[in-house]
Amino acid sequence: MDSGEIRSRFLKFFEERGHTVVPSSSLIPDDPSVLLTTAGMQQFKPYYTGKADAMRDFNSLNTASVQKSFRTSDIDEVGDETHLTFFEMLGNFSFGGYFKEGAIKFAYDLVKEYGLIIQYVTIFEGNSEIPRDDESEKIWRELGVKDIRQQPKSENFWGPTGSEGPCGPTTEIFINNVEVWNIVFNEYYCSPRSVSEAGSPRALSEVGSPDNKLEKLKTPGVDTGMGLERLAVALQDKEHIFETDLFAPILELLPQNLEDRKKRIITDHVRGFSFLISDGVRPSNKEAGYVLRRLMRRVITSLYIWEQQTNSQYSLWSLFEKIVQVYGGFYQELNLNIIKEVFSEEDERFRLTLGRGLKELEKLKAIDTQSAFKLYESYGLPYEVIKEVGGKHAEKLTREDFDKKLEHHKETSRAGSEAKFGGHGLMLDTGELKAHNEEEIKIVTRLHTATHLLQAALQVVLGKNVKQDGSDITAERLRFDFTFDRRLTDEEIKQIEDWINDKIKRGLSMSFKNVPYEDAIQTGALFFAKEKYPATVKVYTVIDENGKPVSSELCGGPHVENTKELVGFKIKKQESVGAGVKRIRAVVADIILNT
Ligand code: SER
Repeated sequence: MDSGEIRSRFLKFFEERGHTVVPSSSLIPDDPSVLLTTAGMQQFKPYYTGKADAMRDFNSLNTASVQKSFRTSDIDEVGDETHLTFFEMLGNFSFGGYFKEGAIKFAYDLVKEYGLIIQYVTIFEGNSEIPRDDESEKIWRELGVKDIRQQPKSENFWGPTGSEGPCGPTTEIFINNVEVWNIVFNEYYCSPRSVSEAGSPRALSEVGSPDNKLEKLKTPGVDTGMGLERLAVALQDKEHIFETDLFAPILELLPQNLEDRKKRIITDHVRGFSFLISDGVRPSNKEAGYVLRRLMRRVITSLYIWEQQTNSQYSLWSLFEKIVQVYGGFYQELNLNIIKEVFSEEDERFRLTLGRGLKELEKLKAIDTQSAFKLYESYGLPYEVIKEVGGKHAEKLTREDFDKKLEHHKETSRAGSEAKFGGHGLMLDTGELKAHNEEEIKIVTRLHTATHLLQAALQVVLGKNVKQDGSDITAERLRFDFTFDRRLTDEEIKQIEDWINDKIKRGLSMSFKNVPYEDAIQTGALFFAKEKYPATVKVYTVIDENGKPVSSELCGGPHVENTKELVGFKIKKQESVGAGVKRIRAVVADIILNT
């Protein structure tokens, strides 16, 4: 049975039994307590608590869905035969329509209809607060299931990741020693006892811990989740998930001589980031954007190393196309062009620093939290890459310590900028440059210097007739408009990039002098004709090793002190804006500099 049929049979089964089929919600949840959608029940949270009315919204108290889900909790295990980041969850839900008997019978019947045999089931054994689930045990027995195992709260009690939500005891179905279906009876609402008692929001594993307050829900509900990938293993009679039709056609497009573990990591990550991108996530250094960036950078690094070792090239394009082919029928939001565009941008950006970062990493004998963090800060290498490439040298490095360091860094830079700038509003807005915090100020400052080098390079490559027509610099990119009457050729673009990267590599110093406006113009320093300058102006100059200026321009600043701080420069796009005016969008290597 192919995965398309598994999905449709699931939905049809529940539709025929009075459930409304609801489309998967986005991987970016409405719920601010979680970063990404981790379970099918997430979009239905308000229906369990009575905050929303299922009858009004679905014309039924029961729903079913196939939900895109993403969990970072297993990211370090991905690469084996069972763990994933992105997965699909088949689920049926009830908000007061049916409870234990209904849910267990549906599950029993559907498993049979799929032609599978239940090996054993588990139930909650009870504790001092919550009674043993005798009722579920009785229902299973009546259905003829003999192997019923009772388990503690750590195994058979579920609550949503994040701070709070509906929760309750579970009963699980095992086939071939694998848990395929988790049935949750939402009888309670879990929340931290109080902020002062419980501290930070509880994670999934801690739901139901003594720090959590349990309140009985007015109407008990049902939330079930069956992993499509695991079910496909059973139904397609495979050894593991990567052999199913959900993965095999994708994985087999990877280079033959790439080791299996790497193939599985790349397949998982590419599938995951294709969905994240299609749901609107974009790479950044925080929250969901940071998850996306880490997945992409791990893939980019694996391929980069393989390319170096085998002296060959590999493009992910065919993988993206295959993913859209395999999944696009069911998930129409998958957008091949956007996936390609976002990936190639990150790829180009990361490759500006990746080679140097890996060289630095190789030099280190023992990688501790401090040196790992430095690699992240200076070259953008994420934890996973450092851990993996570092191998034995990174044995002592743990994710926990690394994340702690990252959090600490974010807090101190936040506190620093709040102390300096009062912590609100736009902190820098010169008309040309815009930044909202200190980190962004560092980036726009680097982009600003890059803009000066760009203008100097345009004069060298295209001629002195090129005149500035405007510019706009944000933390994401620089935009520079100039007079020129035709498209630049690829060769010219490359010459401009090479000219600038050469100046960056040589580490030339930049400084300014205050001079009367007329004198500044006399020296031939560049200026923007549309700008009104004061009587005394700053002239920013980059000088080469012999003291000869390579760029000289009237400007208020701020700028870097040395061109090497730019690390690398890349033109992303050229556009036409009106008659005789061209626009260039460019970036510098995406790193946070410790200056
Ligand atoms: N919410 C439960 C889970 O994620 C069942 O859907 O396992």
